[in-house]
Amino acid sequence: MRSLKSDSVDLVVTSPPYALHFKKEYGNASQEEYVQWILPFAYEIKRVIKPTGSFVLNIGGAWAPGKPIRSLYHYRVLLALTDDVGFDLAQEFFWFNPAKMPAPAEWVNVRRIRVKDSTEYLFWLVKDPMANADNRRVLQPYSDDMRRLIKRGVKETTRPSGHVVKKSFASDRGGSIPPNLISCGNNESNSAYIKGMKRANKKVHPARFPSELPRFFIEFLTEPDAVVLDPFAGSNTTGFVAESLGRKWISVEVSSEYAEESMLRFEPESCGEAKESSLYPDSLF
Ligand SMILES: C[S@@+](CC[C@H](N)C(=O)[O-])C[C@H]1O[C@@H](n2cnc3c(N)ncnc32)[C@H](O)[C@@H]1O
Repeated sequence: MRSLKSDSVDLVVTSPPYALHFKKEYGNASQEEYVQWILPFAYEIKRVIKPTGSFVLNIGGAWAPGKPIRSLYHYRVLLALTDDVGFDLAQEFFWFNPAKMPAPAEWVNVRRIRVKDSTEYLFWLVKDPMANADNRRVLQPYSDDMRRLIKRGVKETTRPSGHVVKKSFASDRGGSIPPNLISCGNNESNSAYIKGMKRANKKVHPARFPSELPRFFIEFLTEPDAVVLDPFAGSNTTGFVAESLGRKWISVEVSSEYAEESMLRFEPESCGEAKESSLYPDSLF
């Protein structure tokens, strides 16, 4: 990343190794050392992002070792990113992964004193509060109820909360504004990447995120030809989605094996795998 020019990247969207108690094969910093580990990357990310750019950090929560209590490491990371590095928090998003396995088994499956932890955080950070963003690029289809309202129209009313519902509420604006909850599994089994890895008799990357995550933020926060960077690229989901959406991309991965294997995504069979969309399906939110 040090070789990249300052103020040259429109969007960084990334998922670094989390501070997990059970380490992944590529290694993870511990909860205690995590903030110190991530800070140098964060300063570089801030340097390379354009003033209008954004940084979307996908980070999973963690449990304290041996106790049914949560680690606060991800909140410490967020505070360091704002208070030390100087980002502003534009908005928090949550990724709901219905396919997440119940864990830790001791507290969830055996003693039954905790429930499945099925969400991860997506911190959207900016250098300037008016960073490039447009929710009209990520509209989702209207619900049946809303479609009926648009057809019928509404009378101006005041809700018990004091909210005034104006006639214009029922105007057709091309789709509904998405919430800050993205719901999708990461259990894809038949993408060209997975098929290619199987054909080559290789093990797939153990911690890929679903293509829907980078796709949503790339469309929401950038325009065609923008430059998208993933400094912890893994199998290069981000680069592949950026390419399919007509953005330029730069991906950095410490493991040359993962980096080489990610090239399978760009083999001819993969073309068209990550579809473009102007209206997001309901299931994404
Ligand atoms: C959670 S995975 C990212 C997976 C990716 N989002 C995908 O969909 O394939 C984190 C990646 O960061 C890589 N990594 C760890 N330390 C790194 C470093 N110092 N520089 C670049 N990559 C690093 C790991 O090898 C791992 O592939």
